[in-house]
Amino acid sequence: MSFDRRELLRYGLLSAAGAGLTSLLGCGPKVSAPASKLAPVRDISGQWSLRAVAAEHRLLTGFAVDPERLKDHRCASLVKQQASIIVPENAMKWGALRPARGRFRFDQADTLLTFAEENHIRLRGHTLCWHRDLPAWVTAINSADDARNQLVEHIQTVVSRYAGRMHSWDVVNEAVEVKDNRPDGLRNSPWLQTIGPDYIELAFQTARMADPAALLSYNDYGMEDETYDAEQKRSAVLLLLRRLKARNVPIDAVGIQSHICACAQYGAGLQRFMARVREMGLQIFLSEMDVKDREVNRQDPRRDTVVAQTYSQYLNLALAEPAVSAVLFWGVDDGQSWLRYEQGSDEQARPLLFDRLFLPKEAFYAVRAAMEARSEIVRTSL
Ligand code: XIL
Repeated sequence: MSFDRRELLRYGLLSAAGAGLTSLLGCGPKVSAPASKLAPVRDISGQWSLRAVAAEHRLLTGFAVDPERLKDHRCASLVKQQASIIVPENAMKWGALRPARGRFRFDQADTLLTFAEENHIRLRGHTLCWHRDLPAWVTAINSADDARNQLVEHIQTVVSRYAGRMHSWDVVNEAVEVKDNRPDGLRNSPWLQTIGPDYIELAFQTARMADPAALLSYNDYGMEDETYDAEQKRSAVLLLLRRLKARNVPIDAVGIQSHICACAQYGAGLQRFMARVREMGLQIFLSEMDVKDREVNRQDPRRDTVVAQTYSQYLNLALAEPAVSAVLFWGVDDGQSWLRYEQGSDEQARPLLFDRLFLPKEAFYAVRAAMEARSEIVRTSL
């Protein structure tokens, strides 16, 4: 017996959407999800792959990977099968590229670009300017001129090396921190302390000159949920983007990291934020998606279901925004997720689309269904 594919996938989406989520977590009213009658198509290759379904709906999709991870052939073949875009999890950060002042190490980054090009996958660069993963010789810099020269030299050298071959660059990452209490909302980062607030503009201008073809993005976290903190963060990021646009700074996109949580609410705040970003003429990337599932009881066999439903709820909302053009997951399989060793170090974390044996989880099918339903969502939301 055969079922219509769109119908099956849409059913997957409908059965996973919203209703049962809060009750499974024990943090909302008890509402049961409708009983699933039809299972989604289990084939994940070819036309059923994430990259194929995403392409049908004007999206690029893929994962954060590093060359080390690709040595596992199971990981490499999944990436080839599923991804139309990848991003280095760490290989293009200062920590990996800059062993010493005046020196660059490109082996890992080059390996990733070769892998991407050989497999017709786009590469997104991450990240040219961040307050973390800076080598000690950078954090020791204390003169404005030195900091400025180092930032410019770094961006010119790295971006021009790969010019014409990159999909995009995260030029500046996580530059906003409301809790640092500055009127401009900027984080009191090493770059801000040495160069001043203009470091952001300097980074974008330098990147554009070095590669006019790559999309240039500002990337940040904490803008996703319905809390007061997230609303403050969204306002501060919009303020920054408006300042950059008013000064004709070359910026093309905003990365919303999307490290989301199984117990949070997502809704109108994110929708409004994305609409404002679109009105500024910017694209949106959901750039580092995963689901923190610490709150879900370890023994609960429905843990994977809750993660899948969180993906559904978030993507149904976010993909309704036409400016969203890429969705990237922060890792391929649960076994390698950064949530195992950072952000509360949860050894049992199951935040991604594939399990430790590289088998697709419910989350995979939920994500594919949300992408599959996109045209309809975008049409009805316009
Ligand atoms: C994380 C990596 O996943 C870890 O392996 C590394 O130890 C620290 O950085 N936001 C970002 C990413 O922009 O660069 C971070 O990646 C996760 C949070």
